[in-house]
Amino acid sequence: MDPNRPIGVGLLGLGVVGSGVALALQQRRNALSKAVGAPVQLVRALVRDPHKPRRPNLSHSVLTTDPTQVLEVPGIDIVVELIGGEQPAGEYVRRALVQGKHVVTANKDLISQQGSELLDLADEKRLGLRFEGAVGGGIPIIGSLTEDLLGNDISSIHAIINGTTNFILSSMADEGMDAKEALSRAQQLGYAEADPAKDVSGLDAAYKLSILASLAFHTKVDPGQVFRQGIDGLSARDFRYARELGYAIKLLAIAKAQRNGVEVRVHPALIPEGHILAKVGGVFNAVEVAGEPVGRAFFHGLGAGADPTTSAVLGDLVHVGRMLATGGRPLRRVPDDADFYVKAMSDVETRYYFRLNVPDRAGVLSQITRVLGDLDISIASIIQKDADAAAGTAEIVITTHPAREAAVQRSLALLDGLDVVKVVNNMIRLEELPV
Ligand SMILES: NC(=O)c1ccc[n+]([C@@H]2O[C@H](COP(=O)([O-])OP(=O)(O)OC[C@H]3O[C@@H](n4cnc5c(N)ncnc54)[C@H](OP(=O)(O)O)[C@@H]3O)[C@@H](O)[C@H]2O)c1
Repeated sequence: MDPNRPIGVGLLGLGVVGSGVALALQQRRNALSKAVGAPVQLVRALVRDPHKPRRPNLSHSVLTTDPTQVLEVPGIDIVVELIGGEQPAGEYVRRALVQGKHVVTANKDLISQQGSELLDLADEKRLGLRFEGAVGGGIPIIGSLTEDLLGNDISSIHAIINGTTNFILSSMADEGMDAKEALSRAQQLGYAEADPAKDVSGLDAAYKLSILASLAFHTKVDPGQVFRQGIDGLSARDFRYARELGYAIKLLAIAKAQRNGVEVRVHPALIPEGHILAKVGGVFNAVEVAGEPVGRAFFHGLGAGADPTTSAVLGDLVHVGRMLATGGRPLRRVPDDADFYVKAMSDVETRYYFRLNVPDRAGVLSQITRVLGDLDISIASIIQKDADAAAGTAEIVITTHPAREAAVQRSLALLDGLDVVKVVNNMIRLEELPV
C-alpha cells in the first residue's frame, strides 16, 4: 500500500459494537495511529437506515447503504464486519477477501459455521481474518489460543461464555430468585434480549465453544456437534442443595481432548465452590485453559457490550494495521486437520447430581441404590432433604462418582418407573475441577 496515505477502515454495521468502534476511531485516533505506526481513518460505514440518529454522527460521505462502497473501493484496507448473523455478513466477508481486503469481525455465528472456509480463503489471498470479539467480548482468548498458547498441548477448556445466563444463574444463586424472575430482571437491565432463546438454550455458548475447541485442538468442531442443554430446568432448590454440598451451578462450556476424541458440551454443571469459575458472577465471562506446559491459565472479563467488544475489535485492527504499516504479511493459520473425532454424549463420563421426590418411608433407598448399582453408577453421597409431612414425601439428593452418560440416562428411565420414586425432579452433571 502507498506509505503516504492513512490505513483505511470500512465498517459494515454501525449498531452497538460498530458505533463503539467508530467512536473509538475518532476519540482514540492518536493513540491508535501511534500503536499502528501510521494514521488510521474511517473511510466508510455501511448501514441499513442512513437517517437513524447515531453516535458518532458521521458525515453523509461516510455513511452508505451500498455494500460495494465498502467492499470494492480503493482506499479501504481493512473491512470490519459488525452486522452479525450468517447472511449477508458471510457474503460480504467473502467479497472483501476476494477484493484483497483484510477482515476483522466479531461475528460468532459466522465464524463458528463458516470460519474454516473463510480462513482458508484468507490464507489463499495472504490476508488477515481476525475475530477476537467473537468469543468472550473483551477477554483476549482468541489471540491467546491462536498465538500465545500455540506451543502447548491443550487438554481442556472450561468456560462461562454467556453473560446473560450467568447473570440469571447468579441472581438465582445469590438472591433465591426463580428462573422467570431472574430473566425478567436481566431483560430490564438490558442484559437479556426480548427473545432470550439463543442464550437460555445454550446455543450462543455452543457457537462460541465450537470456535474455542476448533482453535485449541486444531480441528474442525461444528456447532451442531456440541451437546447442548439450557438452563430452564434449574430451580431455586437445586442452588440451595448444591450450596449445601459445596458446589455452585453454572452454565458451563466444556471442551476436552482425550486420546483422539474430543468432548464438547454446554450444560448446567455443579462445580466446586472453591474453584475460581464458581466466583464468576453477573454478566462476567471466564475461560480456563489447561495444557502442557502452561498448566492452567485463567481469563476473566466482560463478555459483551459495546466497550469490551470494541476493545477486541481495536486489538485486531491494530494488529492488521501494524502489519500493513511495516509491509508484512499475515501468518498462515495452523491447519485444522488434527485427527480428532467428536465423542458422542452417551460415551462421556462425568459425575452427576440427582434430585428425586420419594415417599417418606422405609425401603425407598435400597430400591434406588439397586437401580444405580446394577448400572455401575457408584454413589458418592446421598441425603434426604425437605420432608413434606402433609404429602408424606421427601426429597433425596444423590451425587455419583464418575459414570457413563448412557448408563445415567438409562437409570433415569428406570428410576422414573419405580413405585418408590414419585418424580425425578432433576439431574445435573457435576464437573470435578481442581481447586
Ligand atoms: N452487542 C454485543 O455486546 C456483542 C458482543 C460480542 C459480539 N457481538 C457481535 O458483533 C456483531 C454486531 O453486533 P451488534 O450488537 O453491534 O449488532 P446491532 O446493534 O444489531 O447492529 C447491527 C448493525 O448492522 C447494520 N445492518 C444489519 N443488517 C444489515 C444489512 N443487511 N445491510 C447493511 N447493514 C446492516 C445495522 O444497520 P442499522 O443501524 O441501519 O439498522 C446496524 O448498524 C454481531 O456479530 C454480534 O454477535 C456483539
